[in-house]
Amino acid sequence: MSKRQRLDKILSNLGLGTRKEVKDLVKDGAVQIDGIIAKDSGLQVDPVLQKIKVNNKELLYREFIYIMMNKPQGVVSATEDNRDTTVVDLLEESLQAFEPAPVGRLDKDTEGLLLLTNDGQLAHKLLSPKKHVPKTYFAHIEGRVGQSDIEAFEKGITLDDGYETLPAQLKVLVQGEVSQVEIIIYEGKFHQIKRMFQAVDKKVVYLKRIAMGNLQLDESLDHGEYRELLEEELKLLQE
Ligand code: URA
Repeated sequence: MSKRQRLDKILSNLGLGTRKEVKDLVKDGAVQIDGIIAKDSGLQVDPVLQKIKVNNKELLYREFIYIMMNKPQGVVSATEDNRDTTVVDLLEESLQAFEPAPVGRLDKDTEGLLLLTNDGQLAHKLLSPKKHVPKTYFAHIEGRVGQSDIEAFEKGITLDDGYETLPAQLKVLVQGEVSQVEIIIYEGKFHQIKRMFQAVDKKVVYLKRIAMGNLQLDESLDHGEYRELLEEELKLLQE
């Protein structure tokens, strides 16, 4: 699909600088469209059908951006916030220019896999309650998590507001005063995992998302680090 857009918008979305900076690039005669030097940064250009060169280098156009972040604790899953740092604030400017938004929310004190994209259609598909996209978490739980909890989660849990969750798979990795578990849920209610454990009189003390659909967190990403998805990861998500 092709779409005409202002040249300065295309260039800044591709990470070539702010609108002001890319205007200067055009003014300096550094930008060519189909071999002709562009004189006006407001020119309507079709980035798919037309060849754009900056300083004689051809640009590879892309409309969408898909970023995997290892969200750290202490930042909020939002694009803007008056008080707290947001996950978008952590991105370099050239990526912020694409206007990505987090796909769903992790609590401020939850860490791990967060996808950010400007592809509204994919975000909608992943978040749709009808699609039941699995989300896998690793957690530390105060108290001994045992067989009765596994069975309760398998049946579905009644939350504090009366909502009945879908069946969830709970696996105990380490049983102790503080247990370590893996849990897969198929929906995304507010504070869902914390509230599910609260319903069985236990407390989540650490929570990390490790997968969403077929997409696994790249464990080589440190807290707050991010990278663009690989082509095969995007395919997995789109399945
Ligand atoms: N469940 C929670 O309680 N918190 C999260 O951040 C994600 C799932």
